[in-house]
Amino acid sequence: MTTVTTSANHRGTQRRRQRSSVVDNRERPIGVFDSGIGGLTVLKALTELLPGENFIYLGDTARTPYGTKSPEVIIRYSRENAEFLLAKGIKLLVVACNTASAVALETIARDTAVPVIGVIEPGAEAAVKASKSGRIGVIGTEATIASGAYTQALKRLRANAEIYTRACPLLVPLVEEGWTDNEIALRTVEYYLASLKESGIDTLLLGCTHYPLLKDVIGRVIGPSVRLVDSATATAQAVRRVLSRYGLLRPERKGEQIFFVTEMPDRFARIGRRFFGPEVESAVRIER
Ligand code: DGL
Repeated sequence: MTTVTTSANHRGTQRRRQRSSVVDNRERPIGVFDSGIGGLTVLKALTELLPGENFIYLGDTARTPYGTKSPEVIIRYSRENAEFLLAKGIKLLVVACNTASAVALETIARDTAVPVIGVIEPGAEAAVKASKSGRIGVIGTEATIASGAYTQALKRLRANAEIYTRACPLLVPLVEEGWTDNEIALRTVEYYLASLKESGIDTLLLGCTHYPLLKDVIGRVIGPSVRLVDSATATAQAVRRVLSRYGLLRPERKGEQIFFVTEMPDRFARIGRRFFGPEVESAVRIER
């Protein structure tokens, strides 16, 4: 009798402990990193779809851009970003940078105990869904295009897809300068998209965090018959699926965002407001 009571109590205590640890894990923030400011377009989609979640964002502004760097360096920087966020007790990590996702996702996921989600797979899935003909264009940084990560992901999903890629290195600085709708933006986009226009694609995957801000110009140049897909919304949906699968969705309440950067917090906040909104009031600088 005593034994039964004790063990029932024990089970009750265990259940309470389990329940409280589930609640604790739900309350943990989601970590998001990017090479700098651009990942805020992904964070925007995340906060729109998951308004109750708390987010910790890290922009590696001291070492941006990643798009012109070697895979070894991108992997090293990405690892350090992930370590910083993991030390904050996050429940899930979003690699909100196309370049880091293309080059470093596997390495990071291997070393990390929480789920890790990049932007490549979700973006490729969205593009395959959008495309009727299977002729898909991809634009991104030099490192993203050179990695072939989007081409491989698209081919895994649709083996007979025809993929046309183009690196567009000047688009990142244009967007950061706020030149998203002027003559220079138009001419630059025309120059980069010329070969893609001729290839007869029906879908164009915007494989860089900055390009959603150029959506109007890109749409005008590539024409109305080509659907534009960006990875941000699809990534947010993937994050929601994973949180739900692991019972980690935070009960609906208002979440908040905290911003960390490795350099120039004021510039980050100023430009970040264009990417995300007025919530980017300030950022905390961390030492590297
Ligand atoms: N965030 C990067 C990306 O999405 C663009 C900026 C960079 O080159 O670091 O690829």
